Amino acid sequence: MTEGGRHAPVLLSECIEGLGAAAGGRFLDLTFGRGGHTRALLASAPNVRVVAVDRDPEAVSAGQALAAQQGERFRMVEGNFGELAALGAELGGPFQGVLADIGVSSPQIDSPERGFSFRQAGPLDMRMDRTSESLETWLRRQDETTLADVIYHYGEERRSRRIARAILEALAEGRLHTTLDLREAVMSIGGWGHPRIDPATRTFQALRIAINDELGALERMLAAVRALLAPGGRLAVITFHSLEDRLVKWTFRDDALWQPLTRRPVIANEAERAENPRARSAKLRVATRTANPDAGTTGDASLNQIEDKGEEI
Ligand SMILES: C[S@@+](CC[C@H](N)C(=O)[O-])C[C@H]1O[C@@H](n2cnc3c(N)ncnc32)[C@H](O)[C@@H]1O
Repeated sequence: MTEGGRHAPVLLSECIEGLGAAAGGRFLDLTFGRGGHTRALLASAPNVRVVAVDRDPEAVSAGQALAAQQGERFRMVEGNFGELAALGAELGGPFQGVLADIGVSSPQIDSPERGFSFRQAGPLDMRMDRTSESLETWLRRQDETTLADVIYHYGEERRSRRIARAILEALAEGRLHTTLDLREAVMSIGGWGHPRIDPATRTFQALRIAINDELGALERMLAAVRALLAPGGRLAVITFHSLEDRLVKWTFRDDALWQPLTRRPVIANEAERAENPRARSAKLRVATRTANPDAGTTGDASLNQIEDKGEEI
């Protein structure tokens, strides 16, 4: 799945089909990562052009290297998709399709120095970009209740109170310097038995979501992206967390501007799930930006096919 800073793109053909990229046009990839989806978009038709965004400087460097090869077909922009209004002029538009494959990339998780990993020692950082607060700075201003709430809601971790207490105690006693120390604090509450996943997984996920304001960025993107889409253009969003999927589902269902093309989320097939563990929690939803919110538009045959692949989870 991940070798030498690579990232296996999830639900690739489903995204390309969902965005209708074979018909050509201008597309916006809001989460370039290592460019798996961008490359597939560019390969889907000779008259496809892509602008990509990422907030991570390493992803931006990878994108600039691709831009040097692709010439005018591809452009890389550094930025946060939670600030689309500010980025708008730089991005251009309107676009026929916008893709957001949100969350964290494999190179981010796999580089210990980024501080996302509980398998190798790294700094208490977890920032996708370098502009926000590091995990360590953030932890130093949390009280136990606030920290427990973050771990409970974003990590869906039922033992959040005890974990929060253990983390803040370790911090106060000078025992919390690395991501391995953080894992140790989670483990220290004991009683984990033989869990299916590492006990630190949910806590690390929760802290990462908080540090990067991931839900806030998604919510702001969903509200602002309409301005960049051509009428009839499509928005495809891949999420990895139930709270994120709910935001997308409600936006597509409750806002008359959107015509959902996927009634149920599209999930990865067995082969992809077996090959790429990240794909197991991925959910794709696609919607059309209607020309007129009251009139609505309908999906076409290719999207009906996509929907047929959807499974209720
Ligand atoms: C799951 S990866 C995308 C992988 C990509 N589709 C590929 O195939 O290589 C998510 C990427 O989105 C970026 N990202 C997450 N939140 C972001 C935000 N609010 N604004 C811009 N980029 C963001 C991360 O830095 C990461 O590189």
